Amino acid sequence: MSLPELARLHTDLDADDVAWLQLLQADWQIIADLSFADLVLWLPDRGGTGFWAGGQMRPTTGPTAYVDDIVGSFAPTGRRPFVDQAYTEGRLVREGDPEWRDDVPVRNETIPVRRAGRVIAVVGRHTNLLGVRTPSRLELSYLQTAADLTQMIAAGHFPSVGQRSDHADSPRVGDGFVRVDEAGVVVYASPNALSAFRRLGLSGDLTGVVLSDLTRDLVPPRQRPDEETLSAVLGGRAHRDTELATSTVALIVRSIPLRPHGDRIGALVLVRDVSDLRRRDRELVTKDATIREIHHRVKNNLQTVAALLRLQARRMDSADAKSALEEAVRRVGSIALVHETLSQAVEENVDFDEIADRLGAMVTDVGSSSDGVGVRVRREGSFGVISSESATALAMVLTELVQNAVEHGKPSVTGIVVRAERDAERLHVQVEDDGAGLPEAFALDESTSLGLTIVGTLVESELGGRLRLGPGADGGTKAEFDVELV
Ligand SMILES: Nc1ncnc2c1ncn2[C@@H]1O[C@H](COP(=O)(O)OP(=O)(O)O)[C@@H](O)[C@H]1O
Ligand SMILES: [Mg+2]
Repeated sequence: MSLPELARLHTDLDADDVAWLQLLQADWQIIADLSFADLVLWLPDRGGTGFWAGGQMRPTTGPTAYVDDIVGSFAPTGRRPFVDQAYTEGRLVREGDPEWRDDVPVRNETIPVRRAGRVIAVVGRHTNLLGVRTPSRLELSYLQTAADLTQMIAAGHFPSVGQRSDHADSPRVGDGFVRVDEAGVVVYASPNALSAFRRLGLSGDLTGVVLSDLTRDLVPPRQRPDEETLSAVLGGRAHRDTELATSTVALIVRSIPLRPHGDRIGALVLVRDVSDLRRRDRELVTKDATIREIHHRVKNNLQTVAALLRLQARRMDSADAKSALEEAVRRVGSIALVHETLSQAVEENVDFDEIADRLGAMVTDVGSSSDGVGVRVRREGSFGVISSESATALAMVLTELVQNAVEHGKPSVTGIVVRAERDAERLHVQVEDDGAGLPEAFALDESTSLGLTIVGTLVESELGGRLRLGPGADGGTKAEFDVELV
């Protein structure tokens, strides 16, 4: 069950309280990692009889103390006295002796979560002591920073409002950890953070260096954030992330100012090398651009073919030959239209409504040599997004059907409706005119003319449907088929 649901069902927490706790949860992986400990969020029951576990986070830097999921479980008052105590007394509580849980010694601490002066929840911190070694510099720095952050939670200074990081690539503690003092000077840098800055071009040590000055030296102005962001994030003055890059290295930097007792004493700065990720992004972008460029060229080539056919049509004396070539021009043109749309698309899918509308206009265009002048084509419903493979076939089919309505609906045809109805698996398409109607004794199966043969073949082999042709509602003709959406 989610935190907001649990809160609504069992507690008196209001929407602002829940938002605060969610903001806390957005960043508490950092605290779990710095503490080498599991965190559990306890929500006070509405009736005051105990606490509900509203969230849980395991450390990625050490062993867990909680193998089981406990979210949604209830701890009546008295079962976890440290939670009760932190809540009622509003202070951090730490027990003296470890608790033994399944042969694992666990140290329990509890932190009141304060918002707007009130304690709204309690965070339990549970350290599996089997994972604790003699502390190194790294571990001491982690633990000190975790202590600062938990002080801030208890004092209502953490999380900071409006600074949630939803970055999927947001750095974690293990990616690179730097602690700076209130002047922005590095006090401690983890080996991973040091290597990240070494890759950026640092030759000496990171300790003792002003992080924002160093960044200005190493990163060309074009590839670093504006001066304000840079000094705010790398100086540890703002709770925010930013990205830096050279031609070969890209880093995401995330800073959390520390003010355990109110005044800022420095900041925690996390660094992650995302060079590989960014390189892959760039490759994808170029690949997309290449595909779009190819569609563009195919479109140009098809338009050239259409122009050649049109030239040839003009030189024909026979009316039959002329109209045959003009029909070919339209067929080629309808495919060109799909490629043109694909050349502007972000993905290999197209919003087909625009194509359908332009096809209708193309067939009835006053300037074209077709005889659709005065006939209106109207679309009802939406085709939605169609894969590029189906789009070309569908465009050709529609061109033929609209063309037939114009051509064979004469002399009475005035309007053509292209109807699209879509559900999850299929697209149902109708082309209906108010024209002369099908000739008597017309049989689709026996028709050997090119247009309907093309339509029938494409509908069956490319679109997974079957063409039907019959009288329309207003006496004209209705063609319909389904398209299988994959
Ligand atoms: N909308 C329509 N209204 C009336 N007749 C149609 C319609 N669509 C198709 N037909 C009939 O089906 C025949 C076959 O069409 P088609 O295969 O496209 O060949 P063509 O258009 O070259 O005649 C047409 O000649 C016409 O008699
Ligand atoms: Mg035809």
